[in-house]
Amino acid sequence: MKLGLNLSFAIKRWLGGGQLANVVKHELGMDRVQFTWDLVDPWWPAAARDAVAREYADAFRAAGITIESTFGGLASYTYNHFLAPTETLRDLGKEHFMRAIDMTAEMGVPAAGMPLGSYSAQDALDPGRREDIYQRALQSLVDVSRHAKSRGLSTLLIEPVPLTTEFPSSARDALRLMTDLDGATDIPVRLLVDWGHALFKPIFGEDANMEHWIKQCGNYISAYHIQQTDGLLDRHWSFTQPGIVTPQRLSAFWRDQRLTHQTYLLEIIYPFEQTDEFVLRDMQEGIKLLQSAG
Ligand SMILES: [Fe+2]
Ligand SMILES: [Fe+2]
Repeated sequence: MKLGLNLSFAIKRWLGGGQLANVVKHELGMDRVQFTWDLVDPWWPAAARDAVAREYADAFRAAGITIESTFGGLASYTYNHFLAPTETLRDLGKEHFMRAIDMTAEMGVPAAGMPLGSYSAQDALDPGRREDIYQRALQSLVDVSRHAKSRGLSTLLIEPVPLTTEFPSSARDALRLMTDLDGATDIPVRLLVDWGHALFKPIFGEDANMEHWIKQCGNYISAYHIQQTDGLLDRHWSFTQPGIVTPQRLSAFWRDQRLTHQTYLLEIIYPFEQTDEFVLRDMQEGIKLLQSAG
């Protein structure tokens, strides 16, 4: 398995390139990461934001750590972005992604991504509104892809989420988004599929398995988030917890699907009140379990 770390585990704890590179490389023994926008907020004024972001990128590069992509985290996920109920909010969502792309370019990282957005409670129940807002989102993504290309990025990523009030949610939704964008964007838009989202039984039922996702939209999946979960809520637990995403299951899928480059990025989110000592030890143990599964 090709393993990498989404840096969500580190937020508010290990800050600055030097300290975080040391944790990633020496404490956890990893050399591939996805940088979370929870460490550097795309909305910060550009000059200060880019200086902070470049410091991380330079330190990671010096330590021999590859930053594959940057990605929206908890803060970004709070907002409705491309599927918001008003044009003002949707434009702000588009601006958010564009600013994150600017930051990503300054870091010398080739890809950036986020979930697309959330409908309001009212819009989610109205098929006409959903479709109208979705069509506008497609056009916005085309615009965003043009900007991303001009800044030197090569790929954009969209993460499906386990809520019917958002889009894409199911594998079928994800396939629709991919086919609607295919050939329309200036750089490819691909899927980042989260195991804990794809295996969410309350809405996907018997389709809550990764083989179903491969069958529906496997050609478009360029990376995975991996996390432990019980399939009942989106847990983002460590692999030290019991659950339905065992290291053995991940390893068998990697082998059976003959995956080669679609990195499994651990996206472990700890309670803020958990101690730093616990988080570090738990990350070490979770990584060890994954590595021994092959
Ligand atoms: Fe995720
Ligand atoms: Fe999640």
